[in-house]
Amino acid sequence: MGQTLSGYMFSVAELYFGWRMRSIMSKVRPEDIRLYETYDYEGIPLALDTLKTTMDELNTFHIRDDDVFIVTYPKAGTTWTQEITSAILHDGDIAQVNKRHTMQRVPFIEMTVGGAVYDDIPRAVQMLPKLPTTSPRFIKSHLPGQLLPPQVWEKKIKMIYVIRNPKDVVVSLFHHGALMTPPGKFSFDFVFDGFLDGTLPYGNWWEHYLYFWERRNEDHILFLRFEDMKKDLRGTVLKISEFLGKSFSDETIDAIMDHCSFQNMKNNPMTNPDTLIQIIHGGKMPEGQSFMRKGQSGSWKAKLSQTQSEALEAQVKEVLAGTGLSFDM
Ligand code: A3P
Repeated sequence: MGQTLSGYMFSVAELYFGWRMRSIMSKVRPEDIRLYETYDYEGIPLALDTLKTTMDELNTFHIRDDDVFIVTYPKAGTTWTQEITSAILHDGDIAQVNKRHTMQRVPFIEMTVGGAVYDDIPRAVQMLPKLPTTSPRFIKSHLPGQLLPPQVWEKKIKMIYVIRNPKDVVVSLFHHGALMTPPGKFSFDFVFDGFLDGTLPYGNWWEHYLYFWERRNEDHILFLRFEDMKKDLRGTVLKISEFLGKSFSDETIDAIMDHCSFQNMKNNPMTNPDTLIQIIHGGKMPEGQSFMRKGQSGSWKAKLSQTQSEALEAQVKEVLAGTGLSFDM
């Protein structure tokens, strides 16, 4: 009886949460999104939509011992990894996974899209503690390690961190900006220069990476690379499963892999972020654009100029010297 009641409360709360997400997005327009406009928070540039009040609240945010986090620098493969992990946390029950959109299953803790313009948009940081969510909670963040809620480090909760070749990250970042803001608002050169000098939200890509790289051998951290995931998805599913203390039959692993292939995630309205992003565009994605863009390694070749490619390579060489971290560029 108790279980039925809590299950019922969970469904009602989730339905409400889903409805709120959609109704909020229907009033936010691309011109309301403050994606690349920043303020300084403890030395790190953050997007105006990452509200300062949220950041202050995160300082004392209560972390449960079994919380699981996916943390990345934006565009490193967050959505893909979160979908694999979400499927694993659902024990490979894809029908169950598909009941809720990925952005609802995995709250983005610091972000309030449109929050810099509208002050009545509910914030994940406030809603999460009130939701009678199932355990474990699975939470997404792009914050650099030092700005995550301190309890994630004190309690040593499980965190999955993903890196990607910075050349592909910067190109993906540009397209993401183009998807979320009015046409032509940010040029590729603006995004590239900001990426190189660390003025885009979340700061220097390399400091972000290195914070976790230096902690990669701690038991509660799983450090992954987008390029390895592309080469070996099965191996990635196995790695994440083991990290979360799960073991599955070959059929279940196949089902998770199938659910998380690029094409299936693109086709599935519960995994493709376009389902929600299109609401801010009045119900239809701009022609030829999709969050699920290419999903490849090396697509930077079609975008970076020779000068940009060399500048980024020089930076990689300089900032990663002696760290043991490197990229095939
Ligand atoms: P591209 O823009 O290069 O295509 P994030 O989720 O961190 O924002 O990263 C988004 C990037 O991951 C996009 O890269 C997107 O296409 C890619 N991606 C998302 N799902 C994927 C999948 N199932 N397989 C491969 N790439 C995926």
